[in-house]
Amino acid sequence: MKQFTRGAVVLALAVMALIGLFAALVPLSNSLIEQWARRDVELRSELVFNSIRDRVEREIAGQTQELIPFFQRLTTDERIMALGLCDAEGRITVATPRMPRDLDCRIPGAAGVSDSGARFIRIRIAGERVLIGVFPIAAAGQSAHLVILHELGFVADRIGEARWYLVIVGLALLLLVGAVAALIVGLLQRRYMRAVLSSIQDLKTGRPARSRSLMDPRVQEESREIRGLLRDFREKIRQEDGTPVEWSPSTLQDLLEKELPDAEVFVVSNREPYIHNRDGDKVVVQRPASGLVSALEPVMRACGGVWVAHGSGSADRETVDADDHVAVPPGKPAYRLRRVWISEEEQEGYYYGLANEGLWPLCHLAYVRPIFREADWNHYVAVNQRFADAVVREATRPDPVVMVQDYHFALLPRMIREQLPKATILTFWHIPWPNAEAFGICPWKEEIIAGLLGSTVLGFHTQAHCNNFFETVDRFMESRIDREHRSVVLGGEETMVRPYPISIEWPPAALLSQQPVAVCRQAVRERYGLAPDMKIGVGIERFDYTKGILDRLQAIDELLIRQPEWKGRFTFIQIVAPTRSKLASYTALQEDAVRITAEVNARHGGEGYQPIHLVIRHHEPEDVYELFRAADICVVSSLHDGMNLVAKEFVAARDDEQGALVLSRFAGASSELSEALIINPFDVQGMAEAIGRALLMPEAEQRERMRLMRSHVRERNVYRWAGQILLDASRLRKRQRVQEFANGD
Ligand code: G6P
Repeated sequence: MKQFTRGAVVLALAVMALIGLFAALVPLSNSLIEQWARRDVELRSELVFNSIRDRVEREIAGQTQELIPFFQRLTTDERIMALGLCDAEGRITVATPRMPRDLDCRIPGAAGVSDSGARFIRIRIAGERVLIGVFPIAAAGQSAHLVILHELGFVADRIGEARWYLVIVGLALLLLVGAVAALIVGLLQRRYMRAVLSSIQDLKTGRPARSRSLMDPRVQEESREIRGLLRDFREKIRQEDGTPVEWSPSTLQDLLEKELPDAEVFVVSNREPYIHNRDGDKVVVQRPASGLVSALEPVMRACGGVWVAHGSGSADRETVDADDHVAVPPGKPAYRLRRVWISEEEQEGYYYGLANEGLWPLCHLAYVRPIFREADWNHYVAVNQRFADAVVREATRPDPVVMVQDYHFALLPRMIREQLPKATILTFWHIPWPNAEAFGICPWKEEIIAGLLGSTVLGFHTQAHCNNFFETVDRFMESRIDREHRSVVLGGEETMVRPYPISIEWPPAALLSQQPVAVCRQAVRERYGLAPDMKIGVGIERFDYTKGILDRLQAIDELLIRQPEWKGRFTFIQIVAPTRSKLASYTALQEDAVRITAEVNARHGGEGYQPIHLVIRHHEPEDVYELFRAADICVVSSLHDGMNLVAKEFVAARDDEQGALVLSRFAGASSELSEALIINPFDVQGMAEAIGRALLMPEAEQRERMRLMRSHVRERNVYRWAGQILLDASRLRKRQRVQEFANGD
């Protein structure tokens, strides 16, 4: 677009320059034509004088009156106004009728004398401009002057004509310049549109921009423009589509009221949004480190309803009522939390065993071997059934909307469907779905797939995960896959399978209480004893092997080896929340992380300088946001991740539009936050280079990237995520009703 603007500016400048040139030329041409005409008339006067001089000198000695008819004949020339003779005192003695009688032939004020001794002056006679030429003649010892008066009116005519010619030539030139400029702008436009189309193609196919480096400012400018065009385009489509432009709690509430009136909403997840723990004689509320919880909690605050989850806190039982309910958020209740109790043994089998030693490594390509035990499976089935029963008991209508969350509850959709056939069941799988071959090693693959296909809608973060699911169903189930409608029909029941990239609330609640960035930086520097000019990197997550924490620590080591100038100038704060610590793969990870941190600190650290601060404890959202705001860079290096909301939270935290995000290509978020520095976490050297680049990123570039990422996260927030699922659900629900009418149910 800038190229067109530039073209238009050049065109306007060229036109203005031409107009300016002509404005300057007109007075110049006037004076040139005037000078030229005057000289012309002077020459004509001299010519007339020279040709009649002999006769006049002859006549002057005799009867001067005889000259009058001769002079009169000469004045038939339209430009010669009058001729006459003057005596030595300058008085007119003989003259044709139009000669002013009081003319003084000595003509005081005349400029210069020509070679022939003639003198010229311009005067006005009766409003007309006239040139007087006075020529000395001497005959028979008398001195006299011949006077010739030339009319100068034709000069003004000539100037007028010349002006017209100039205007015509100017207009012709303007037309020519305009045509050439239009041609150039047209060519630029065609070239630009070709670049736009090929860049859109690149964006769509994920192919890297060809021929020019991504760091080329022209490429960045073009891609910004292309994104702007795409955004406008999307906006238009959405407006025409009638869907709300800005997704917020109120748009979600409106949608529920309009599309799913009187719907009873349930969320079911393993992790609860608020955990009550006993701390001495106090009860403290903890908000768990879980992407699922951070996404769903704002949705429930907006929609109300009941959240059914495992009561895992040490004071959870003390804080519920007789029906195992507690109103949350504490102090500002918006929905009910219904706690379900699980024994230690069940927890071992269902949560640690099947869910986290079986399905978690099965679905994440992090090279940790999945473990499947029959006993774990049995607990998994029993706990799923308990949660299904809890939902059925909570429901006061036959057709609730039940939002089932994650790999802990693969069997739940079918179990609920069996008891509440009219329920609308929306299942979301928060982790990746592997390809059919990888999933095929699960001994209970058919049960898991059949369980999930009890859903009305089954959602994944990306289309790739949906495709893997279709492929898995195709390989292992007797069912019909309708790829056009993106659904699977099993036993006459249809499940829609769609991508719904999850997100965060906007603006995030934890941001509202934040201090300005400078204050956050100061607080974090003081907490960690960092010098004012120390660059800060952060990594914040659960202590999980899928997050690539060890690779990240090694990348920092690599950076300090290859670019030692960063020693003493860069520190990395790695916050990790302990999780699933009973499992060997998790304890081994913690031990390795502690060991590598100690090694890196010993190798590069020194007095007052610690390259890595490894902080293993839970942080509440406000502390996490403060760290994000204090950081120069944030590193998310997941080896495999469904979405990764830490990346989106970092972006949301930076309302100053500063900070660089280094993001793994294996996190679902990378397909949305393409302005992050995208890395392959298995390539430690490449990650070290990206961290180095992020540390040196100019502020203007940080701003540009951050601005684009922030607008994406703001627009595609979690209300939109929930809204899209609920909209699809309402469409299916309506279809189902029509079907029931048709069947006479
Ligand atoms: C991932 C899962 C969530 C889970 C979270 C925390 O984000 O998708 O379902 O809640 O990890 O794990 P945890 O085992 O502590 O609940």
